[in-house]
Amino acid sequence: MEIPPRAADGEPGVAAPDEYETVDLGVLVVGAGAAGARTAVELVEQGVDPEEILVIGKRGHGDAHTTWARGGINGALGTHDPEDDWTVHAADTLKEGHFLNDPGKVETVTERMPGLLRELDDWGMAFSRTDDGEPDQRYFGAQSFRRTAFAGDHTGESLLNTLVERAQGLSVPYRENVFISRLLTEGGRALGAAGYDMDTGEYVVFDAETVVLAAGGYTSLYRRHSSRDDENTGDGPALAYLAGARLMDVEFVQFHPTGMVGDRYGEEWDGRLVTEAVRGEGGRLFNAEGERFMERYSPDQMELDARDVVARAIAREVREGRGTENGGVYLDISHREREFIQERLPRMYERFADLGVDMAEEPVEVAPTAHYGMGGVRVDDEGETDIDGLYAIGETMAGVHGANRLGGNSLAETIAFGQVTGQAVARRLADDAGGSDDEAPESDRLHDRARHHFADLGRLAGSDGSHEPEALLDELRELLWEHAGLLRTEAGLAAGLEELQELRRKASDLAVGGPTSKSFEYALDLGFGLVVAEALLRGAQERTESRGAHARTDYPGTDPDWKRNIVVERGSVGGMRLTTESVGTPSEAVQEALDADHELDYHQLE
Ligand code: FUM
Repeated sequence: MEIPPRAADGEPGVAAPDEYETVDLGVLVVGAGAAGARTAVELVEQGVDPEEILVIGKRGHGDAHTTWARGGINGALGTHDPEDDWTVHAADTLKEGHFLNDPGKVETVTERMPGLLRELDDWGMAFSRTDDGEPDQRYFGAQSFRRTAFAGDHTGESLLNTLVERAQGLSVPYRENVFISRLLTEGGRALGAAGYDMDTGEYVVFDAETVVLAAGGYTSLYRRHSSRDDENTGDGPALAYLAGARLMDVEFVQFHPTGMVGDRYGEEWDGRLVTEAVRGEGGRLFNAEGERFMERYSPDQMELDARDVVARAIAREVREGRGTENGGVYLDISHREREFIQERLPRMYERFADLGVDMAEEPVEVAPTAHYGMGGVRVDDEGETDIDGLYAIGETMAGVHGANRLGGNSLAETIAFGQVTGQAVARRLADDAGGSDDEAPESDRLHDRARHHFADLGRLAGSDGSHEPEALLDELRELLWEHAGLLRTEAGLAAGLEELQELRRKASDLAVGGPTSKSFEYALDLGFGLVVAEALLRGAQERTESRGAHARTDYPGTDPDWKRNIVVERGSVGGMRLTTESVGTPSEAVQEALDADHELDYHQLE
């Protein structure tokens, strides 16, 4: 539910300052995945006192969504292909993004990545290695060269373990199980954030000079998604938008071609990722008639064409009656040796073995699943939003991926922007140090805003209406899947927006348990989800073309006039306002790499 209008002064339920906890900080990092952890590490390395920092997460420490990132992390090390360099990586990223990416941000990531991978190696990350001991690199979709470094098929887990260890070595404080429900701002400046402890239900105010949102994306707002249900529900973009920051590119949602599907695996595994690394290591897709159908859609790049191309090909096979009974196709790597599969894809091998499927003997069943939101908060070159002192990075920010993302670039973005933003925030804190302004009035206003927000939360926690938040979240997931999925139309998007109105009406009549109940968390997730879903549907309706992950069957072509980003902001009277912005131009070096027109030769894999 959207939190109701603020309670009036003196209204019962407005907490007194001694009824909640206050934490004073230089920087609050919201999100304990790779982006948040890398930011915190950089802050300390740049001289910020760890006691000035707090990293908070909604889950247990070390259990962020990053752990589900599997197949790898991109950086032009040239381990196997010395012709590769960061400019070609940038060119591939721009091509995959259909040139809606911000070239500056793309170059920031790609230029830093070789060094950042070496640094992770120095910090002890468990990369898979070549015989020479170098971090190995595998093929991933739509990349000209092998540049995806990996740790088996548990790259995200190994990355996060490395960063957490590093952060702990630097004494970075973490706090688990905290839900941020509101950013506190004044006059376009961040004052901090308010939330609650999910274990105790106690309200908390973070009085922070700067806030870094590293809170993930929004693809669990779809029926089939690769995340766990209670992560990636749009907190980051919604918090920023509600505080007055602009969003961008929200209509672009990546459907990973190979999510688990089928009765054999059970409900809990529906949509979970079968890593692209399976195809990167030679896995082949077959329809129910045994045809290797990618030969018809992409004879050169085959299974390793861009994710949107492969996902739409699978959807078409299924739509035209050549799919499995469960609405999927088969992914087969059984032509590889068992030992090879066990070494390169250990988690996949084990997971399927536990489900009674031997990948070395038989194929697995897969179908597209919502995987990554390319859109998010509009930020500047250092990750700062429109709100002074509020930053957004990782999947929460927009700009690096444009209309579609290269596999392996999301982990890359988290650590590159973790470093960039960590440096920017450290500089800012150093510049502000010793300032003599009297901070008392500002702190009073922060607490005033927080107390009114807590009164609203109290009313939400006590609501005794007709609708379960979890059921409405499921309705929202169904709505986006049906109306803003792989294929979109004007009629479908308009119907989606109408249904969203009805969902909003229901969301104003919720049945919520107390503040430690799951339903309270779901009610807040729902409020955030409704904001992001509206931006997504409106953006997708506005964009009357097909580009990358956004496919309109009523506008099948890419329109050069639409080489613009859609920006979403809160109108002065509360409604959502959409505008467009032009895209920047790449540097000369990257333009040269684009002109060279490198392309993956898939057949090396055969
Ligand atoms: O398929 C995968 O392993 C996903 C990687 C990514 O999305 O970057």
